[in-house]
Amino acid sequence: MLDAGRFYEMQALQYLDDRDRSRVGVEIVERWARSLPFGTPVVEIACGGGYPITQVLVDSGLAVWAIDTSPTLLRQFRLRFPMVPTQCASALESNYFGRTFEAVISIGLIFLLREDEQLALLHRVSEILEPRGRFLFTAPVETGAWQDVTTGLACWSLGRNAYTRTLQHMGFRVIRTHIDEGENNYYEAEKIGGPVW
Ligand SMILES: C[S@@+](CC[C@H](N)C(=O)[O-])C[C@H]1O[C@@H](n2cnc3c(N)ncnc32)[C@H](O)[C@@H]1O
Repeated sequence: MLDAGRFYEMQALQYLDDRDRSRVGVEIVERWARSLPFGTPVVEIACGGGYPITQVLVDSGLAVWAIDTSPTLLRQFRLRFPMVPTQCASALESNYFGRTFEAVISIGLIFLLREDEQLALLHRVSEILEPRGRFLFTAPVETGAWQDVTTGLACWSLGRNAYTRTLQHMGFRVIRTHIDEGENNYYEAEKIGGPVW
């Protein structure tokens, strides 16, 4: 089965064409971004081409760093946001610029990773977030595996209970969840301690 990183690189131009015109998620990300102090350092994991999500983060006055596995999407991203430091790397292997952040956002990625990879990524996020740091990511409420009808990619969801429990183990509390106009579910969390395992 094709992995998500290779899929998005192969489909990069088509994906850009669709996503550049989509406003899905903008309102939720805008509210989250505006709740953070001006200049907050945030890393965007799986930034894609940067429209519309990175644009919202930048317009909200956040200091953005970004990573993605797709060289083609990142090339476009860098033309659009030349001042944003970027890294072409997997979320699981990135060194996250060798620093910590006060906020992390990841839209449209976590459920594309296998269950063990999701746990590893949530752990990594807890390592790179400062205490009281904020984390927003999309993943379903339901539990299970499925094949995405549009992309054909395999997807996995731990489900709301397991995401909440896992986040608690990693030192987070879930503040709230949101649903956008495309029926995507968002977990909004805050780091209140360190991982307990
Ligand atoms: C559904 S798109 C979402 C892009 C962007 N966040 C948005 O909302 O428009 C998924 C993105 O994840 C990237 N990606 C896939 N696997 C990845 C991985 N292991 N690490 C980092 N990025 C990855 C793809 O290149 C693609 O840009």
